[in-house]
Amino acid sequence: MRPVGTIRVAFRVIGAAAVGGLALVQASGMARGEEPSLKRLAPKGLLIGAALNARQVDGGDPVSLDIVMRQFNSISPENVLKWGAVHPAPDRYVLEPVDKYVTLGKEHDLAVIGHVLVWHQQTPAWVFAGEGGGRADRDTLLSRMRTHIQTIVGRYRGRIHGWDVVNEALDDDGTLRKTPWLEAIGPDYVAKAFEYAHAADPAAELYYNDFNLWKPAKREAAIRLVRELRAGGLKVDGVGEQAHWGVGEPPLADIEKTISAIASGTGVKVLLTELDVDVLPRDPDMWGADLSKKATIRATTNIYPNGLPDAQQEELARRYADIFSLVLKHRAAVSRVTFWGVTDAQSWLHDFPIPGRVNYPLLWDRQGQPKRAFDAVVEVLKAAR
Ligand code: G3I
Repeated sequence: MRPVGTIRVAFRVIGAAAVGGLALVQASGMARGEEPSLKRLAPKGLLIGAALNARQVDGGDPVSLDIVMRQFNSISPENVLKWGAVHPAPDRYVLEPVDKYVTLGKEHDLAVIGHVLVWHQQTPAWVFAGEGGGRADRDTLLSRMRTHIQTIVGRYRGRIHGWDVVNEALDDDGTLRKTPWLEAIGPDYVAKAFEYAHAADPAAELYYNDFNLWKPAKREAAIRLVRELRAGGLKVDGVGEQAHWGVGEPPLADIEKTISAIASGTGVKVLLTELDVDVLPRDPDMWGADLSKKATIRATTNIYPNGLPDAQQEELARRYADIFSLVLKHRAAVSRVTFWGVTDAQSWLHDFPIPGRVNYPLLWDRQGQPKRAFDAVVEVLKAAR
């Protein structure tokens, strides 16, 4: 394994408050190399992953990469594999960042995840455009989908462990989301995507990925969808619950119900694919990750601009401990937990659902120092060994 980064000593922030503009720090005395490692503590068969952004893939964030190499055994691409990034024009593919991402993962023996093949977000307008200016017809769109999947999945055949084939095809009420894919192709666009992905790399794992699967109607719809795909002879290996959660929402019991129901209802793996815990207030309708929704509450909810107070730090730690206890309880069903980022410096939650807030959703702070939440997850993993 090639060493990445050279961080030697970990510092702990005492409390979170910045005093006179300077955070109080104290050397913990623990060399980062001695820090407990999530991937080593996790039970056999449970992958622990993190999403990497373009800068990290490019080597521009050695602090995060150092954490990744020590702590994780799987990586997901936060953005570089989305259609708009990788295939911005019909005859133009931007493959260099993806090549780097895949090479990084393979060199360091990480399970490399592909995210995402078919989604209604981040898909350029040309994909859905018809010749005469309207919407492309079914055959045109299927042909574009097949070409995209063949090219991308085919290029990384044997090197990408598993693909999020279709992302967010369902609405919270359990109906198929009204996307251009659905409208132009019809409901079988989901099956077609799985068919093309399997043809392009028969050995790769294939997943259906969505958020808010803890909501009963959506959960049942996802289970039905996967059962139908499998009954139709298609390979589906897992369901990804994105796990964009808050400190109090959704209730743990609903998360547990979701893990159990997906496992028993589909027989495929359950994955927590985009775990982060929002500590800021949110309108209840805004739970999940529907990027088309507009915030209805305002910047007065940016309540921890200068650091997360101790009490909330503890609350976050308890939430993460609860989530990991649940994962361990259901370890036969859950095969991967991936965090949607590495440190708090890198999180979409600073801008969703309200832009410009300061959030604290991950296990490492902005400086790359482990938070109380990291210790809590370590304690849970250790106790189960
Ligand atoms: O790359 C451009 C850059 O050139 C430009 O200067 C900049 C200006 O805003 O934007 C950059 O693109 C942004 C991109 O992230 C890379 O930073 C997009 O505006 C921004 O919309 C995009 O947000 C991503 C979002 O998906 C939409 O793709 C988030 O980083 C990413 O965390 C988020 O991830 C999604 C999962 O894929 C699916 N599940 C929900 C999850 C959270 O929304």
